[in-house]
Amino acid sequence: MLRVQSLTKGFGSGRNRLEVLKGIDLEITSGELVALMGPSGCGKSTLLNIIGGILDADSGQISLQEYVYGTKPPNKVVDVRRNGVGWIFQDFHLIDRLSALDNVIFALELAGFTSSEAMVKARDALNKVSLGDRMDFIPDQLSGGQQQRVAIARAIAGNRPLLLADEPTGNLDVKSGEEIIDLFKELAKDGVSILMVTHDPILASKADRMLLLKEGKTAASDIRSAWGDGAGAEEK
Ligand SMILES: Nc1ncnc2c1ncn2[C@@H]1O[C@H](COP(=O)(O)OP(=O)(O)OP(=O)(O)O)[C@@H](O)[C@H]1O
Ligand SMILES: [Mg+2]
Repeated sequence: MLRVQSLTKGFGSGRNRLEVLKGIDLEITSGELVALMGPSGCGKSTLLNIIGGILDADSGQISLQEYVYGTKPPNKVVDVRRNGVGWIFQDFHLIDRLSALDNVIFALELAGFTSSEAMVKARDALNKVSLGDRMDFIPDQLSGGQQQRVAIARAIAGNRPLLLADEPTGNLDVKSGEEIIDLFKELAKDGVSILMVTHDPILASKADRMLLLKEGKTAASDIRSAWGDGAGAEEK
């Protein structure tokens, strides 16, 4: 489903050059929920941005279903952004003035669906995240967990095969965070793949698999080696 091969990315030049990703290899199958952990600044968001087609790598390759990219400039990766991946952020990124339904419809229209198609798909998606009775509420009238579920509805509405979630529970209380992970697991059962960055080892342990990003490479991890800054990974 998703395959990342030998991906490298650095920023800056000369003495200010910083190599962030030093050869990332990973694979995610259909319906898999994978947690990505690692110390602050290790490159988790950078990796997600490249997989999401909004940043180009220096070398390496990504294949996501029929899409092959990685080093292509973002303006050549429009299809990936429109149809390949859905994004979920820590701070939801909903439009304040629009109802839950209109937030999802708006995103679908930007992705190229007609208004009537968008309406049907948006309702389906909001029902799937159990917000069928809150569609006409604006974000301010929803709890944090409900707002995040609107964002998830927006991300899944176009039947995108891969969800990229960058600390999706970072702004939520423990219970709402757990509900989001439970929802991810349900979506994964339907065949959606999810790559989720989290700093919370307990939430990460609910994923099918954990990856630790450390010193520019990813390694399979377990809860003990992923705890904290990842120290101890080698001893295990
Ligand atoms: N556009 C950029 N220009 C220069 N440096 C950048 C840029 N984007 C990221 N970096 C650097 O790359 C490194 C990785 O950043 P990234 O945001 O991917 O880390 P992260 O693992 O997501 O951290 P956090 O857990 O704090 O969110 C950091 O040192 C950051 O300063
Ligand atoms: Mg980050």
